[in-house]
Amino acid sequence: MSKLQKILAGLVAVCVLFFGFIAFRIAAAPNDQTVKLAKIPEDQKLTKEAYKDAYPLQYESFMMNNRQEPSPTGYGGSVEGNSYIAGQPELLMNFKGYKFSIQYDVARGHTYTSKDFLGTKRLPGQKGSCITCKGSYMYDKYFKESGWTYASKPIDEIKAPIKEDEWFGCSSCHDPETMELRVYQQGFVEAMARRGVDVNNASHNDMRAYVCSQCHNEYYFMKEDGRVNHPWDNGFDPEQEFQFYQSGQAGGFQQDWVHPDSKTQMLKAQHPEFENWVTSVHHDAGVTCVDCHMPYMRKDGQKYTSHWMTNPLKTPEESCRKCHDEKAQTLIDRVKYINDNTFKVQRLAGQACARAHEAIAAAMAAGVPEEQLAQARLALREGQWYWDWVAAENSYGFHNTEVAIKTLALSIDRANRAIEIASGVAPAGNVPMGVPAMVVSEAPAAQ
Ligand code: HEC
Ligand code: HEC
Ligand code: HEC
Ligand code: HEC
Repeated sequence: MSKLQKILAGLVAVCVLFFGFIAFRIAAAPNDQTVKLAKIPEDQKLTKEAYKDAYPLQYESFMMNNRQEPSPTGYGGSVEGNSYIAGQPELLMNFKGYKFSIQYDVARGHTYTSKDFLGTKRLPGQKGSCITCKGSYMYDKYFKESGWTYASKPIDEIKAPIKEDEWFGCSSCHDPETMELRVYQQGFVEAMARRGVDVNNASHNDMRAYVCSQCHNEYYFMKEDGRVNHPWDNGFDPEQEFQFYQSGQAGGFQQDWVHPDSKTQMLKAQHPEFENWVTSVHHDAGVTCVDCHMPYMRKDGQKYTSHWMTNPLKTPEESCRKCHDEKAQTLIDRVKYINDNTFKVQRLAGQACARAHEAIAAAMAAGVPEEQLAQARLALREGQWYWDWVAAENSYGFHNTEVAIKTLALSIDRANRAIEIASGVAPAGNVPMGVPAMVVSEAPAAQ
Protein backbone atom coordinates (compact mmCIF):
# COMPACT_ATOMS: atom_id res chain seq x y z
CA MET A 1 0.00 0.00 0.00
CA SER A 2 1.24 3.49 -0.80
CA LYS A 3 1.22 6.12 1.93
CA LEU A 4 -1.86 7.79 0.37
CA GLN A 5 -3.70 4.46 0.19
CA LYS A 6 -2.89 3.89 3.85
CA ILE A 7 -4.23 7.31 4.83
CA LEU A 8 -7.40 6.74 2.77
CA ALA A 9 -7.89 3.29 4.28
CA GLY A 10 -7.40 4.80 7.72
CA LEU A 11 -10.00 7.51 7.02
CA VAL A 12 -12.52 4.95 5.76
CA ALA A 13 -11.92 2.84 8.87
CA VAL A 14 -12.49 5.85 11.14
CA CYS A 15 -15.72 6.77 9.29
CA VAL A 16 -17.02 3.20 9.44
CA LEU A 17 -16.28 3.01 13.15
CA PHE A 18 -17.80 6.41 13.83
CA PHE A 19 -21.05 5.93 11.89
CA GLY A 20 -21.24 2.32 13.04
CA PHE A 21 -21.05 3.60 16.60
CA ILE A 22 -23.74 6.23 15.95
CA ALA A 23 -26.00 3.62 14.33
CA PHE A 24 -25.44 1.31 17.29
CA ARG A 25 -26.19 4.10 19.78
CA ILE A 26 -29.41 4.92 17.94
CA ALA A 27 -30.46 1.28 17.92
CA ALA A 28 -29.60 0.95 21.60
CA ALA A 29 -30.98 4.37 22.57
CA PRO A 30 -33.85 4.50 25.04
CA ASN A 31 -37.38 5.09 23.92
CA ASP A 32 -37.84 7.83 21.35
CA GLN A 33 -41.31 8.64 22.75
CA THR A 34 -41.32 11.21 25.49
CA VAL A 35 -43.50 9.82 28.20
CA LYS A 36 -45.70 12.34 29.98
CA LEU A 37 -45.19 11.98 33.70
CA ALA A 38 -48.41 11.30 35.64
CA LYS A 39 -49.04 12.39 39.22
CA ILE A 40 -49.79 9.26 41.21
CA PRO A 41 -51.63 9.77 44.54
CA GLU A 42 -49.31 9.26 47.52
CA ASP A 43 -51.24 6.31 48.98
CA GLN A 44 -51.34 4.46 45.62
CA LYS A 45 -47.68 4.67 44.60
CA LEU A 46 -46.95 1.01 45.28
CA THR A 47 -49.84 -0.27 43.15
CA LYS A 48 -50.26 -1.04 39.45
CA GLU A 49 -53.88 0.08 39.08
CA ALA A 50 -53.11 3.80 39.65
CA TYR A 51 -50.68 3.81 36.67
CA LYS A 52 -53.07 2.12 34.25
CA ASP A 53 -54.58 5.14 32.48
CA ALA A 54 -51.37 7.18 32.28
CA TYR A 55 -49.20 4.36 30.89
CA PRO A 56 -51.61 2.00 29.08
CA LEU A 57 -49.04 0.23 26.84
CA GLN A 58 -46.72 -0.57 29.74
CA TYR A 59 -49.61 -1.54 32.02
CA GLU A 60 -51.24 -3.82 29.45
CA SER A 61 -47.99 -5.56 28.58
CA PHE A 62 -47.21 -5.99 32.28
CA MET A 63 -50.55 -7.74 32.70
CA MET A 64 -49.43 -10.28 30.07
CA ASN A 65 -47.36 -11.73 32.91
CA ASN A 66 -50.66 -13.34 33.89
CA ARG A 67 -50.37 -15.66 30.89
CA GLN A 68 -49.76 -19.25 31.85
CA GLU A 69 -47.75 -20.84 29.07
CA PRO A 70 -45.10 -23.51 28.77
CA SER A 71 -41.70 -22.39 27.51
CA PRO A 72 -40.83 -22.77 23.78
CA THR A 73 -37.93 -25.05 24.75
CA GLY A 74 -39.91 -27.12 27.25
CA TYR A 75 -37.62 -25.96 30.07
CA GLY A 76 -38.83 -23.57 32.76
CA GLY A 77 -42.20 -22.21 31.72
CA SER A 78 -44.76 -19.98 33.38
CA VAL A 79 -47.41 -22.35 34.75
CA GLU A 80 -48.66 -22.95 38.27
CA GLY A 81 -47.40 -25.89 40.28
CA ASN A 82 -44.56 -26.82 37.87
CA SER A 83 -42.57 -28.77 40.47
CA TYR A 84 -38.79 -29.14 40.32
CA ILE A 85 -39.09 -32.10 42.70
CA ALA A 86 -41.38 -34.06 40.36
CA GLY A 87 -38.92 -33.64 37.48
CA GLN A 88 -35.75 -34.35 39.50
CA PRO A 89 -36.51 -36.74 42.39
CA GLU A 90 -32.89 -36.44 43.63
CA LEU A 91 -33.99 -33.11 45.12
CA LEU A 92 -35.82 -35.07 47.84
CA MET A 93 -32.52 -36.47 49.09
CA ASN A 94 -30.43 -33.37 48.48
CA PHE A 95 -32.84 -31.01 50.28
CA LYS A 96 -33.91 -33.51 52.97
CA GLY A 97 -34.54 -31.77 56.28
CA TYR A 98 -35.02 -28.40 54.53
CA LYS A 99 -38.19 -26.67 53.33
CA PHE A 100 -37.21 -26.97 49.66
CA SER A 101 -37.97 -30.70 49.88
CA ILE A 102 -41.61 -29.88 50.74
CA GLN A 103 -42.44 -27.56 47.82
CA TYR A 104 -40.18 -26.09 45.14
CA ASP A 105 -41.81 -24.79 41.96
CA VAL A 106 -40.55 -23.12 38.78
CA ALA A 107 -41.09 -19.33 38.82
CA ARG A 108 -43.87 -17.70 36.79
CA GLY A 109 -44.78 -14.12 35.92
CA HIS A 110 -44.25 -11.15 38.27
CA THR A 111 -48.02 -10.67 38.62
CA TYR A 112 -48.18 -13.97 40.56
CA THR A 113 -45.58 -12.95 43.15
CA SER A 114 -48.03 -12.43 46.02
CA LYS A 115 -50.13 -15.50 45.26
CA ASP A 116 -47.14 -17.82 44.99
CA PHE A 117 -45.35 -16.30 47.97
CA LEU A 118 -48.35 -16.34 50.31
CA GLY A 119 -49.37 -19.80 49.09
CA THR A 120 -46.08 -21.67 49.37
CA LYS A 121 -45.78 -24.40 52.00
CA ARG A 122 -42.31 -23.04 52.76
CA LEU A 123 -43.71 -19.81 54.27
CA PRO A 124 -44.94 -20.74 57.80
CA GLY A 125 -42.38 -19.85 60.47
CA GLN A 126 -40.28 -17.57 58.24
CA LYS A 127 -39.10 -14.04 59.07
CA GLY A 128 -39.76 -10.67 57.42
CA SER A 129 -36.56 -10.89 55.33
CA CYS A 130 -38.47 -13.07 52.86
CA ILE A 131 -40.57 -10.16 51.55
CA THR A 132 -37.44 -8.27 50.50
CA CYS A 133 -37.60 -9.29 46.83
CA LYS A 134 -41.39 -9.40 46.51
CA GLY A 135 -41.82 -5.75 45.57
CA SER A 136 -40.87 -2.34 46.98
CA TYR A 137 -43.13 -2.32 50.07
CA MET A 138 -40.27 -3.41 52.30
CA TYR A 139 -38.20 -0.42 51.14
CA ASP A 140 -40.80 2.34 50.76
CA LYS A 141 -42.69 1.49 53.97
CA TYR A 142 -40.46 -0.52 56.31
CA PHE A 143 -36.87 0.31 55.42
CA LYS A 144 -37.34 4.07 55.05
CA GLU A 145 -38.97 4.15 58.49
CA SER A 146 -36.79 1.80 60.54
CA GLY A 147 -34.09 0.17 58.44
CA TRP A 148 -33.69 -3.59 58.61
CA THR A 149 -35.83 -4.16 61.73
CA TYR A 150 -38.59 -5.71 59.58
CA ALA A 151 -36.21 -8.49 58.53
CA SER A 152 -36.12 -10.29 61.89
CA LYS A 153 -39.84 -9.93 62.73
CA PRO A 154 -42.30 -12.82 62.17
CA ILE A 155 -43.53 -12.99 58.58
CA ASP A 156 -47.21 -12.99 59.64
CA GLU A 157 -46.82 -9.57 61.24
CA ILE A 158 -44.82 -8.15 58.31
CA LYS A 159 -47.12 -9.35 55.52
CA ALA A 160 -50.40 -8.37 57.24
CA PRO A 161 -50.67 -4.70 56.13
CA ILE A 162 -49.61 -5.25 52.48
CA LYS A 163 -52.59 -4.99 50.10
CA GLU A 164 -52.84 -7.39 47.14
CA ASP A 165 -52.03 -4.71 44.51
CA GLU A 166 -48.99 -3.51 46.50
CA TRP A 167 -46.93 -6.69 46.28
CA PHE A 168 -45.22 -6.35 42.90
CA GLY A 169 -46.07 -3.02 41.34
CA CYS A 170 -44.55 -0.46 39.01
CA SER A 171 -42.52 0.87 41.97
CA SER A 172 -40.68 -2.48 42.09
CA CYS A 173 -38.46 -1.05 39.32
CA HIS A 174 -39.44 2.62 38.92
CA ASP A 175 -39.11 5.60 41.21
CA PRO A 176 -42.82 6.55 41.46
CA GLU A 177 -41.97 10.29 41.45
CA THR A 178 -39.83 10.37 38.30
CA MET A 179 -40.52 6.94 36.71
CA GLU A 180 -36.73 6.53 36.40
CA LEU A 181 -35.40 3.02 36.96
CA ARG A 182 -34.17 2.62 40.53
CA VAL A 183 -32.00 0.28 42.57
CA TYR A 184 -33.33 0.28 46.13
CA GLN A 185 -32.40 -3.20 47.40
CA GLN A 186 -29.96 -2.19 50.13
CA GLY A 187 -28.11 -5.51 50.26
CA PHE A 188 -27.39 -5.17 46.54
CA VAL A 189 -26.30 -1.52 46.90
CA GLU A 190 -23.93 -2.39 49.76
CA ALA A 191 -22.48 -5.55 48.19
CA MET A 192 -21.77 -3.67 44.94
CA ALA A 193 -20.19 -0.81 46.93
CA ARG A 194 -17.82 -3.35 48.53
CA ARG A 195 -16.77 -4.20 44.97
CA GLY A 196 -16.13 -0.51 44.26
CA VAL A 197 -19.32 0.00 42.22
CA ASP A 198 -21.56 2.92 43.17
CA VAL A 199 -24.91 1.88 41.69
CA ASN A 200 -26.28 5.40 42.20
CA ASN A 201 -23.89 6.53 39.47
CA ALA A 202 -24.57 3.60 37.15
CA SER A 203 -24.84 4.20 33.40
CA HIS A 204 -28.24 3.85 31.77
CA ASN A 205 -27.18 0.53 30.22
CA ASP A 206 -25.97 -0.84 33.57
CA MET A 207 -29.28 0.18 35.14
CA ARG A 208 -31.03 -2.02 32.56
CA ALA A 209 -29.28 -4.95 34.23
CA TYR A 210 -29.12 -3.78 37.86
CA VAL A 211 -32.85 -3.13 38.08
CA CYS A 212 -33.43 -6.88 37.60
CA SER A 213 -30.23 -8.07 39.26
CA GLN A 214 -31.11 -6.49 42.60
CA CYS A 215 -33.57 -9.41 43.07
CA HIS A 216 -32.35 -12.08 40.61
CA ASN A 217 -29.17 -13.07 42.42
CA GLU A 218 -27.60 -15.29 45.10
CA TYR A 219 -28.07 -14.00 48.66
CA TYR A 220 -28.06 -15.05 52.30
CA PHE A 221 -29.60 -13.66 55.49
CA MET A 222 -27.09 -12.29 57.99
CA LYS A 223 -27.15 -14.05 61.33
CA GLU A 224 -27.30 -10.90 63.49
CA ASP A 225 -30.41 -9.20 62.09
CA GLY A 226 -31.70 -11.16 59.09
CA ARG A 227 -30.60 -8.49 56.61
CA VAL A 228 -29.97 -9.58 53.02
CA ASN A 229 -26.36 -9.81 51.89
CA HIS A 230 -24.52 -11.16 48.84
CA PRO A 231 -21.29 -13.23 48.67
CA TRP A 232 -19.55 -11.13 46.00
CA ASP A 233 -16.49 -9.78 47.80
CA ASN A 234 -14.14 -12.19 45.98
CA GLY A 235 -15.96 -12.14 42.63
CA PHE A 236 -19.12 -13.47 40.95
CA ASP A 237 -17.97 -16.97 40.04
CA PRO A 238 -19.56 -19.89 41.94
CA GLU A 239 -16.09 -20.92 43.16
CA GLN A 240 -15.46 -17.41 44.52
CA GLU A 241 -18.87 -17.38 46.18
CA PHE A 242 -18.12 -20.72 47.85
CA GLN A 243 -14.78 -19.36 49.04
CA PHE A 244 -16.68 -16.42 50.58
CA TYR A 245 -18.92 -18.75 52.61
CA GLN A 246 -15.98 -20.99 53.45
CA SER A 247 -13.58 -18.37 54.73
CA GLY A 248 -15.89 -16.82 57.33
CA GLN A 249 -16.65 -13.74 55.22
CA ALA A 250 -20.37 -14.34 55.83
CA GLY A 251 -19.84 -13.65 59.55
CA GLY A 252 -21.95 -15.86 61.80
CA PHE A 253 -23.79 -17.39 58.84
CA GLN A 254 -22.43 -20.89 58.28
CA GLN A 255 -25.18 -22.96 56.77
CA ASP A 256 -28.80 -22.90 55.66
CA TRP A 257 -29.46 -26.27 57.30
CA VAL A 258 -27.81 -29.49 58.44
CA HIS A 259 -28.65 -32.54 56.33
CA PRO A 260 -30.28 -35.12 58.65
CA ASP A 261 -28.64 -38.21 57.08
CA SER A 262 -25.08 -37.09 56.28
CA LYS A 263 -25.00 -34.37 59.02
CA THR A 264 -23.43 -32.05 56.45
CA GLN A 265 -23.72 -28.25 56.91
CA MET A 266 -25.45 -27.31 53.67
CA LEU A 267 -25.75 -24.11 51.62
CA LYS A 268 -28.81 -23.39 49.44
CA ALA A 269 -28.11 -21.45 46.24
CA GLN A 270 -30.74 -18.95 45.05
CA HIS A 271 -31.37 -17.94 41.42
CA PRO A 272 -27.91 -16.45 40.53
CA GLU A 273 -29.03 -14.98 37.16
CA PHE A 274 -27.04 -11.80 37.77
CA GLU A 275 -23.75 -13.53 38.52
CA ASN A 276 -24.16 -15.92 35.60
CA TRP A 277 -24.86 -13.08 33.18
CA VAL A 278 -21.89 -10.98 34.42
CA THR A 279 -19.34 -13.37 32.89
CA SER A 280 -21.38 -14.17 29.76
CA VAL A 281 -20.67 -13.28 26.15
CA HIS A 282 -23.84 -11.16 26.05
CA HIS A 283 -22.66 -9.09 29.02
CA ASP A 284 -19.38 -8.42 27.26
CA ALA A 285 -21.31 -7.29 24.20
CA GLY A 286 -23.30 -4.83 26.37
CA VAL A 287 -26.53 -6.88 26.13
CA THR A 288 -28.61 -6.55 29.32
CA CYS A 289 -31.50 -8.51 30.84
CA VAL A 290 -33.89 -5.85 29.52
CA ASP A 291 -32.65 -6.15 25.89
CA CYS A 292 -33.82 -9.78 25.81
CA HIS A 293 -36.60 -9.90 28.41
CA MET A 294 -38.23 -6.50 27.74
CA PRO A 295 -37.70 -5.77 24.04
CA TYR A 296 -39.04 -2.69 22.28
CA MET A 297 -42.47 -3.17 20.68
CA ARG A 298 -44.68 -1.05 18.48
CA LYS A 299 -48.41 -0.49 18.69
CA ASP A 300 -50.32 2.00 16.54
CA GLY A 301 -47.03 3.59 15.53
CA GLN A 302 -45.96 4.02 19.16
CA LYS A 303 -42.71 2.51 20.37
CA TYR A 304 -42.67 1.18 23.92
CA THR A 305 -40.83 -1.25 26.17
CA SER A 306 -42.56 -4.60 26.56
CA HIS A 307 -43.32 -5.24 30.23
CA TRP A 308 -43.99 -8.96 29.72
CA MET A 309 -40.87 -10.17 31.53
CA THR A 310 -40.93 -13.80 30.50
CA ASN A 311 -39.00 -16.30 28.39
CA PRO A 312 -37.67 -14.16 25.47
CA LEU A 313 -38.05 -17.07 23.06
CA LYS A 314 -41.78 -16.27 23.06
CA THR A 315 -40.79 -13.07 21.20
CA PRO A 316 -37.66 -14.06 19.22
CA GLU A 317 -38.15 -11.41 16.53
CA GLU A 318 -38.02 -8.52 19.02
CA SER A 319 -35.77 -10.16 21.64
CA CYS A 320 -33.07 -11.78 19.51
CA ARG A 321 -33.36 -10.99 15.84
CA LYS A 322 -32.60 -7.29 16.25
CA CYS A 323 -28.99 -8.54 16.67
CA HIS A 324 -28.94 -12.09 15.28
CA ASP A 325 -29.47 -12.99 11.62
CA GLU A 326 -30.34 -16.64 12.24
CA LYS A 327 -33.95 -17.76 11.77
CA ALA A 328 -36.05 -17.64 14.96
CA GLN A 329 -36.42 -21.43 14.94
CA THR A 330 -32.65 -21.87 14.61
CA LEU A 331 -32.14 -19.72 17.71
CA ILE A 332 -34.80 -21.63 19.65
CA ASP A 333 -33.22 -24.95 18.60
CA ARG A 334 -29.78 -23.68 19.69
CA VAL A 335 -31.11 -22.70 23.13
CA LYS A 336 -32.88 -26.05 23.49
CA TYR A 337 -29.66 -27.85 22.54
CA ILE A 338 -27.84 -25.96 25.33
CA ASN A 339 -30.71 -26.76 27.72
CA ASP A 340 -30.75 -30.50 26.86
CA ASN A 341 -27.02 -30.85 27.46
CA THR A 342 -26.95 -28.75 30.62
CA PHE A 343 -29.93 -30.57 32.10
CA LYS A 344 -28.35 -33.96 31.40
CA VAL A 345 -25.18 -33.02 33.30
CA GLN A 346 -27.26 -31.32 36.01
CA ARG A 347 -29.13 -34.58 36.67
CA LEU A 348 -25.81 -36.50 36.87
CA ALA A 349 -24.44 -33.97 39.35
CA GLY A 350 -27.62 -33.96 41.47
CA GLN A 351 -27.63 -37.75 41.60
CA ALA A 352 -23.93 -37.87 42.52
CA CYS A 353 -24.68 -35.54 45.46
CA ALA A 354 -27.62 -37.70 46.55
CA ARG A 355 -25.35 -40.79 46.53
CA ALA A 356 -22.74 -38.87 48.54
CA HIS A 357 -25.30 -38.18 51.31
CA GLU A 358 -26.01 -41.93 51.38
CA ALA A 359 -22.32 -42.85 51.40
CA ILE A 360 -21.57 -40.56 54.33
CA ALA A 361 -24.59 -41.86 56.27
CA ALA A 362 -23.35 -45.42 55.65
CA ALA A 363 -19.83 -44.45 56.76
CA MET A 364 -21.25 -42.96 59.97
CA ALA A 365 -23.13 -46.21 60.67
CA ALA A 366 -19.92 -48.19 60.04
CA GLY A 367 -18.05 -46.12 62.62
CA VAL A 368 -15.69 -44.28 60.26
CA PRO A 369 -13.57 -41.78 62.26
CA GLU A 370 -14.96 -38.27 62.69
CA GLU A 371 -12.01 -36.58 60.95
CA GLN A 372 -12.57 -38.62 57.79
CA LEU A 373 -16.31 -37.87 57.89
CA ALA A 374 -15.59 -34.16 58.25
CA GLN A 375 -13.50 -34.18 55.07
CA ALA A 376 -16.15 -36.09 53.16
CA ARG A 377 -18.80 -33.62 54.35
CA LEU A 378 -16.74 -30.65 53.24
CA ALA A 379 -16.40 -32.14 49.74
CA LEU A 380 -20.17 -32.75 49.61
CA ARG A 381 -21.00 -29.25 50.89
CA GLU A 382 -18.96 -27.84 48.01
CA GLY A 383 -20.26 -30.33 45.45
CA GLN A 384 -23.91 -29.71 46.21
CA TRP A 385 -23.34 -25.95 46.20
CA TYR A 386 -22.11 -26.21 42.57
CA TRP A 387 -25.00 -28.43 41.49
CA ASP A 388 -27.57 -26.20 43.15
CA TRP A 389 -26.00 -23.04 41.71
CA VAL A 390 -26.78 -24.22 38.18
CA ALA A 391 -30.08 -25.92 39.08
CA ALA A 392 -31.41 -22.78 40.83
CA GLU A 393 -30.32 -20.48 37.98
CA ASN A 394 -33.35 -20.15 35.73
CA SER A 395 -31.92 -20.48 32.20
CA TYR A 396 -30.81 -24.16 32.05
CA GLY A 397 -27.38 -23.08 30.87
CA PHE A 398 -28.41 -20.48 28.27
CA HIS A 399 -27.28 -17.32 30.11
CA ASN A 400 -23.72 -18.67 30.34
CA THR A 401 -23.10 -22.15 29.02
CA GLU A 402 -19.40 -22.34 29.90
CA VAL A 403 -19.98 -21.47 33.54
CA ALA A 404 -22.92 -23.89 33.79
CA ILE A 405 -20.96 -26.86 32.44
CA LYS A 406 -17.79 -26.07 34.41
CA THR A 407 -19.75 -25.69 37.62
CA LEU A 408 -21.57 -29.00 37.14
CA ALA A 409 -18.25 -30.74 36.38
CA LEU A 410 -16.88 -29.41 39.68
CA SER A 411 -20.01 -30.70 41.42
CA ILE A 412 -19.59 -34.23 40.09
CA ASP A 413 -15.90 -34.18 41.05
CA ARG A 414 -16.56 -33.03 44.63
CA ALA A 415 -19.48 -35.44 45.15
CA ASN A 416 -17.35 -38.37 43.96
CA ARG A 417 -14.51 -37.31 46.25
CA ALA A 418 -16.98 -37.24 49.14
CA ILE A 419 -18.00 -40.81 48.32
CA GLU A 420 -14.36 -41.94 47.97
CA ILE A 421 -13.30 -40.36 51.25
CA ALA A 422 -16.35 -41.64 53.17
CA SER A 423 -15.91 -45.16 51.87
CA GLY A 424 -12.16 -45.16 52.50
CA VAL A 425 -11.22 -45.58 48.82
CA ALA A 426 -9.32 -42.32 49.09
CA PRO A 427 -7.80 -41.80 52.53
CA ALA A 428 -8.81 -38.50 54.10
CA GLY A 429 -6.26 -35.76 53.70
CA ASN A 430 -4.53 -37.37 50.74
CA VAL A 431 -6.79 -35.96 48.08
CA PRO A 432 -5.68 -32.49 47.06
CA MET A 433 -8.75 -30.35 46.42
CA GLY A 434 -8.89 -27.53 43.93
CA VAL A 435 -8.76 -27.29 40.21
CA PRO A 436 -5.40 -28.01 38.63
CA ALA A 437 -4.18 -25.01 36.64
CA MET A 438 -3.26 -25.65 33.04
CA VAL A 439 0.46 -25.45 32.33
CA VAL A 440 1.05 -23.21 29.35
CA SER A 441 4.48 -23.22 27.80
CA GLU A 442 5.78 -19.77 27.04
CA ALA A 443 5.23 -18.48 23.53
CA PRO A 444 8.43 -18.10 21.54
CA ALA A 445 9.69 -14.53 21.49
CA ALA A 446 8.48 -12.51 18.49
CA GLN A 447 10.95 -12.39 15.63
C1 HEC B 1 -39.41 -5.48 36.59
C2 HEC B 1 -39.13 -4.08 36.36
C3 HEC B 1 -40.22 -3.17 35.88
C4 HEC B 1 -41.51 -3.08 36.35
C5 HEC B 1 -42.17 -3.89 37.45
C6 HEC B 1 -42.13 -2.04 35.60
N1 HEC B 1 -41.25 -1.49 34.70
FE1 HEC B 1 -41.60 0.07 33.44
N2 HEC B 1 -39.74 -0.13 32.64
C7 HEC B 1 -38.80 -1.04 33.06
C8 HEC B 1 -37.63 -0.92 32.22
C9 HEC B 1 -36.35 -1.73 32.37
C10 HEC B 1 -37.90 0.08 31.28
C11 HEC B 1 -36.95 0.62 30.19
C12 HEC B 1 -36.34 1.86 30.77
C13 HEC B 1 -35.14 2.38 30.04
O1 HEC B 1 -34.43 1.69 29.34
O2 HEC B 1 -34.89 3.59 30.24
C14 HEC B 1 -39.22 0.58 31.59
C15 HEC B 1 -39.84 1.64 30.91
C16 HEC B 1 -41.05 2.20 31.30
C17 HEC B 1 -41.58 3.42 30.76
C18 HEC B 1 -40.90 4.34 29.73
C19 HEC B 1 -41.50 4.13 28.36
C20 HEC B 1 -41.11 2.83 27.72
O3 HEC B 1 -42.01 2.10 27.31
O4 HEC B 1 -39.89 2.53 27.61
C21 HEC B 1 -42.80 3.60 31.38
C22 HEC B 1 -43.78 4.75 31.15
C23 HEC B 1 -43.03 2.49 32.27
N3 HEC B 1 -41.93 1.67 32.20
C24 HEC B 1 -44.16 2.31 33.03
C25 HEC B 1 -44.37 1.22 33.88
C26 HEC B 1 -45.61 0.94 34.57
C27 HEC B 1 -46.87 1.76 34.42
C28 HEC B 1 -45.44 -0.16 35.33
C29 HEC B 1 -46.44 -0.90 36.19
C30 HEC B 1 -47.63 -1.39 35.51
C31 HEC B 1 -44.05 -0.59 35.11
N4 HEC B 1 -43.45 0.27 34.23
C32 HEC B 1 -43.46 -1.67 35.75
C33 HEC B 1 -38.92 -1.93 34.12
C34 HEC B 1 -40.08 -2.16 34.84
C1 HEC C 1 -38.46 -6.96 43.46
C2 HEC C 1 -37.73 -8.13 42.99
C3 HEC C 1 -37.68 -8.42 41.50
C4 HEC C 1 -37.26 -7.57 40.49
C5 HEC C 1 -36.78 -6.12 40.63
C6 HEC C 1 -37.33 -8.32 39.27
N1 HEC C 1 -37.81 -9.58 39.52
FE1 HEC C 1 -38.15 -11.05 38.13
N2 HEC C 1 -39.03 -12.21 39.54
C7 HEC C 1 -39.10 -11.91 40.88
C8 HEC C 1 -39.87 -12.94 41.56
C9 HEC C 1 -40.18 -12.99 43.05
C10 HEC C 1 -40.29 -13.86 40.56
C11 HEC C 1 -41.16 -15.13 40.74
C12 HEC C 1 -42.64 -14.83 40.68
C13 HEC C 1 -43.50 -16.07 40.89
O1 HEC C 1 -43.09 -17.18 40.54
O2 HEC C 1 -44.64 -15.93 41.42
C14 HEC C 1 -39.74 -13.38 39.30
C15 HEC C 1 -39.91 -14.02 38.07
C16 HEC C 1 -39.28 -13.62 36.89
C17 HEC C 1 -39.32 -14.34 35.63
C18 HEC C 1 -40.07 -15.63 35.32
C19 HEC C 1 -41.27 -15.28 34.47
C20 HEC C 1 -41.95 -16.45 33.83
O3 HEC C 1 -42.80 -16.20 32.94
O4 HEC C 1 -41.68 -17.61 34.18
C21 HEC C 1 -38.55 -13.63 34.73
C22 HEC C 1 -38.26 -13.97 33.29
C23 HEC C 1 -38.07 -12.46 35.43
N3 HEC C 1 -38.53 -12.48 36.73
C24 HEC C 1 -37.26 -11.49 34.84
C25 HEC C 1 -37.00 -10.24 35.42
C26 HEC C 1 -36.41 -9.13 34.71
C27 HEC C 1 -35.98 -9.16 33.27
C28 HEC C 1 -36.34 -8.10 35.60
C29 HEC C 1 -35.84 -6.69 35.35
C30 HEC C 1 -36.48 -5.94 34.29
C31 HEC C 1 -36.88 -8.57 36.87
N4 HEC C 1 -37.27 -9.87 36.72
C32 HEC C 1 -36.95 -7.82 38.04
C33 HEC C 1 -38.53 -10.81 41.52
C34 HEC C 1 -38.03 -9.69 40.86
C1 HEC D 1 -29.19 -12.70 25.45
C2 HEC D 1 -30.51 -12.63 26.01
C3 HEC D 1 -30.69 -12.73 27.50
C4 HEC D 1 -30.11 -11.97 28.48
C5 HEC D 1 -29.07 -10.87 28.32
C6 HEC D 1 -30.68 -12.41 29.73
N1 HEC D 1 -31.57 -13.42 29.51
FE1 HEC D 1 -32.69 -14.36 30.88
N2 HEC D 1 -33.29 -15.74 29.51
C7 HEC D 1 -33.00 -15.67 28.16
C8 HEC D 1 -33.56 -16.84 27.51
C9 HEC D 1 -33.49 -17.15 26.02
C10 HEC D 1 -34.19 -17.61 28.51
C11 HEC D 1 -34.94 -18.93 28.35
C12 HEC D 1 -33.99 -20.08 28.26
C13 HEC D 1 -34.67 -21.41 28.04
O1 HEC D 1 -35.74 -21.52 27.49
O2 HEC D 1 -34.12 -22.36 28.46
C14 HEC D 1 -34.01 -16.89 29.76
C15 HEC D 1 -34.52 -17.28 30.98
C16 HEC D 1 -34.57 -16.47 32.11
C17 HEC D 1 -35.37 -16.73 33.29
C18 HEC D 1 -36.32 -17.92 33.46
C19 HEC D 1 -37.57 -17.70 32.66
C20 HEC D 1 -38.58 -18.82 32.72
O3 HEC D 1 -39.53 -18.79 31.93
O4 HEC D 1 -38.45 -19.74 33.54
C21 HEC D 1 -35.13 -15.70 34.16
C22 HEC D 1 -35.74 -15.50 35.53
C23 HEC D 1 -34.18 -14.80 33.53
N3 HEC D 1 -33.87 -15.30 32.29
C24 HEC D 1 -33.68 -13.63 34.10
C25 HEC D 1 -32.64 -12.88 33.53
C26 HEC D 1 -31.94 -11.81 34.21
C27 HEC D 1 -32.25 -11.32 35.60
C28 HEC D 1 -30.98 -11.34 33.35
C29 HEC D 1 -29.94 -10.28 33.58
C30 HEC D 1 -29.09 -10.40 34.75
C31 HEC D 1 -31.12 -12.09 32.12
N4 HEC D 1 -32.12 -13.01 32.27
C32 HEC D 1 -30.37 -11.87 30.96
C33 HEC D 1 -32.33 -14.64 27.53
C34 HEC D 1 -31.59 -13.66 28.16
C1 HEC E 1 -28.29 -6.46 21.56
C2 HEC E 1 -27.76 -7.56 20.73
C3 HEC E 1 -28.11 -9.00 21.09
C4 HEC E 1 -29.33 -9.52 21.48
C5 HEC E 1 -30.62 -8.77 21.76
C6 HEC E 1 -29.15 -10.96 21.58
N1 HEC E 1 -27.87 -11.28 21.28
FE1 HEC E 1 -27.06 -13.17 21.25
N2 HEC E 1 -25.25 -12.41 20.93
C7 HEC E 1 -24.97 -11.07 20.68
C8 HEC E 1 -23.54 -10.91 20.51
C9 HEC E 1 -22.82 -9.61 20.19
C10 HEC E 1 -22.96 -12.20 20.70
C11 HEC E 1 -21.49 -12.56 20.63
C12 HEC E 1 -21.18 -12.88 19.25
C13 HEC E 1 -19.76 -13.25 19.07
O1 HEC E 1 -18.95 -12.98 19.95
O2 HEC E 1 -19.47 -13.85 18.02
C14 HEC E 1 -24.07 -13.12 20.94
C15 HEC E 1 -23.90 -14.48 21.12
C16 HEC E 1 -24.97 -15.39 21.19
C17 HEC E 1 -24.83 -16.82 21.23
C18 HEC E 1 -23.52 -17.58 21.30
C19 HEC E 1 -23.13 -17.65 22.77
C20 HEC E 1 -21.74 -18.13 23.05
O3 HEC E 1 -21.55 -18.64 24.17
O4 HEC E 1 -20.85 -17.96 22.23
C21 HEC E 1 -26.09 -17.34 21.27
C22 HEC E 1 -26.49 -18.80 21.33
C23 HEC E 1 -27.02 -16.23 21.27
N3 HEC E 1 -26.30 -15.06 21.22
C24 HEC E 1 -28.39 -16.35 21.31
C25 HEC E 1 -29.26 -15.27 21.52
C26 HEC E 1 -30.68 -15.40 21.77
C27 HEC E 1 -31.45 -16.70 21.79
C28 HEC E 1 -31.17 -14.14 21.95
C29 HEC E 1 -32.57 -13.72 22.28
C30 HEC E 1 -33.17 -14.30 23.45
C31 HEC E 1 -30.06 -13.22 21.81
N4 HEC E 1 -28.93 -13.93 21.56
C32 HEC E 1 -30.16 -11.84 21.93
C33 HEC E 1 -25.88 -10.04 20.60
C34 HEC E 1 -27.19 -10.13 20.97
